Amino acid sequence: MKNTVSTLLKQKQSGEKITMLTAYDYTTARIMDECGVNSILVGDSLGMVMLGYENTLPVTMEDMIHHTRAVARGANNAFIVADMPFMSYQASVREAVLNAGRLIKEGGANAVKLEGGAEVCEQIRAIVNASIPVVAHLGLTPQSVNVFGGFKVQGKSADKAKKLIDDALMIQEAGACAVTLEGIPAKLAEIITKKLFIPTIGIGAGNGCDGQVLVYQDMLGLTVGHTPKFAKRFADIGELMRKGITDYITEVKNGTFPSEEHTYSIDEDVINEIVK
Ligand code: KIV
Ligand code: NA
Repeated sequence: MKNTVSTLLKQKQSGEKITMLTAYDYTTARIMDECGVNSILVGDSLGMVMLGYENTLPVTMEDMIHHTRAVARGANNAFIVADMPFMSYQASVREAVLNAGRLIKEGGANAVKLEGGAEVCEQIRAIVNASIPVVAHLGLTPQSVNVFGGFKVQGKSADKAKKLIDDALMIQEAGACAVTLEGIPAKLAEIITKKLFIPTIGIGAGNGCDGQVLVYQDMLGLTVGHTPKFAKRFADIGELMRKGITDYITEVKNGTFPSEEHTYSIDEDVINEIVK
């Protein structure tokens, strides 16, 4: 059954945790959908994990539409959220609405996600008025990496924590249907979760949120180099891939692949006729 805005809201009300994972392609989205994940996020994290950029800033609307379309073709039941990339919504409300519309119309998303609190409430209100559900994103918002001076935990001081609570209430008031809380202390995320009637989906925000989201490369062991503290490895697909690829190379080099079982045959008579 298709997960919708109201499915997620009902889950918050009943206390059933919301599961969300990122996906960026058809095959992965199909597997996640078959497993029954509630929601798939086509995150602008694709800039880093799929395209190899340092951060999410270079990601374009075209990148987002391209990957969202692929995910939408693979996922029939998950609620599909597409990230609005850096500079697709900050400059004006009009641009924000038009770009959100493209992610729905061309990408096939069910909702869009954008980063920020008070400063993007006008955009949230306008996008919701265009009948597009909006997921907000607070805390460690990666598109502000140059302001933060790195990927650092947010909301640790009383001032910053209060600002986050205010922002959460404001984005809810502006019409957001859910909010991602990234990289904030668990206690703070729990306070925000209790204050809001819309669901909170945490990443690096502890166990008190209404749901959780992880980047699939992190949780399946495909990320190289540093992974953040919260990124639990549920499987080591990277190791499996390395083994499969190494075995392939070995077998091709030593001539054991392809063997007869992976080869097409032809009648001996036909061969005799062509080589006579
Ligand atoms: O882009 C992304 O993957 C995200 C999640 C980390 C919430 O925004
Ligand atoms: Na993102």
